[in-house]
Amino acid sequence: MHVTSASPVERRAREEMARHLIDIDVLTKEWAEAFRAVPRSRFLPDPFWAYDMESGRSDSVRRAAGEDAWARAAYANVPLVTQWDDGQHSGTESGARATSSASMPSVVAAMLRDLDVRDGMRVLEVGTGTGWNAGLLAHRLGGENVVSVEIDPAVAARASAALKRAGLDPLVIEGDGRDGWAPGAPYDRVIATAGVRDLPPRWLEQTRPGGIVLAPWGTHYSNQDAVVRLTVGEDGRAHGPFLSMVEFMKLRDQRLDWNRFGGHVRDFPGDADVSRTSLTPADLGDRYDTPNFVAGLLVPDCAHVLNDGPSGEPGDAKAWFFDFGSLSWAAVVFTPGDPEATVHQSGPRRLWDEVERALTWWIGVGRPEFDRFGLTVDGDGTTRPWLDGPENVLPSCRPLA
Ligand SMILES: C[S@@+](CC[C@H](N)C(=O)[O-])C[C@H]1O[C@@H](n2cnc3c(N)ncnc32)[C@H](O)[C@@H]1O
Repeated sequence: MHVTSASPVERRAREEMARHLIDIDVLTKEWAEAFRAVPRSRFLPDPFWAYDMESGRSDSVRRAAGEDAWARAAYANVPLVTQWDDGQHSGTESGARATSSASMPSVVAAMLRDLDVRDGMRVLEVGTGTGWNAGLLAHRLGGENVVSVEIDPAVAARASAALKRAGLDPLVIEGDGRDGWAPGAPYDRVIATAGVRDLPPRWLEQTRPGGIVLAPWGTHYSNQDAVVRLTVGEDGRAHGPFLSMVEFMKLRDQRLDWNRFGGHVRDFPGDADVSRTSLTPADLGDRYDTPNFVAGLLVPDCAHVLNDGPSGEPGDAKAWFFDFGSLSWAAVVFTPGDPEATVHQSGPRRLWDEVERALTWWIGVGRPEFDRFGLTVDGDGTTRPWLDGPENVLPSCRPLA
């Protein structure tokens, strides 16, 4: 590996990142050397944007601000946005949608730990992004054992150039990662670094029996993903548990298009049926909360969003639910001080009833945390979530038609 010499500030920032990741128990000794050797700072475009997880704000970082400021920002344990709006946005302001990034180092380290690679294994990565993760994999396994697929031509070209400059040579393929990359198969491991809603069957097909597919997976109920580690069986079917809650930008054709619900609520509350519920916004769960994830497992084809109410007071909120297959919608209006909320439901599907059944089921089985849940994926991509083992498939809260 040949990397041009790093400034003392950069060396210190890189070492502090590695030490922090070791302290929080995500960076294993097998990966520590790669994290010290592969310089995240050299995989970033000018400008990049440091993403503040709390406020949701992204602040641009320019090389013109000086090498030291650049290095400190490059090694912070935050996601760094490196492209907005599929490359249609330029300038230093944030764009509308972050579409490529260098993922948060603690998430990168935890996923590489959970990928459980051994020397000589062949790995397919989907979502090259900056190329940093592909570089870490190539440093550990050798470039000849790593293939990384990126859908965006400009992003793929930038990653290839950065890898070459760093003296690393994984194979970077410009293409749709849903197809995997058959010429390099079979793989021992497939790792997706973009969020997945429908698991592409090709990933299972291209993994050897006993191999692992690790991916941030979730439902359209929320933007949340949970990293699932699937072990592929001889029959081409894969099973595995959810390991950690994350939130990734989604595979390009699996993003939720909120415009599709534009015609659902023509008039609020219109002729919607009205009822009451004693469930609260806390029962629905926030980002990274188990009930928010589990409701998505039990209520298929339903998108949900919780908006703050006009007063801004805690407890003033409106929860929305939209059906994918009809114009059904539900809205629950929570008012501070009112022990019950008002439910509005319209259309053939009673979405709030389904969500209430899901949350009641979850409470009734003792509020199991998300890591007791897992997923089975058939060879054709059909998924079945379960609790405590593949034999215990979750009930769907959607009544049979
Ligand atoms: C979070 S970034 C990946 C981070 C990256 N592994 C790194 O180390 O910087 C997600 C990437 O997935 C790419 N992507 C989205 N959909 C894709 C698809 N269908 N196939 C391949 N890449 C895709 C995006 O363009 C983006 O660059």
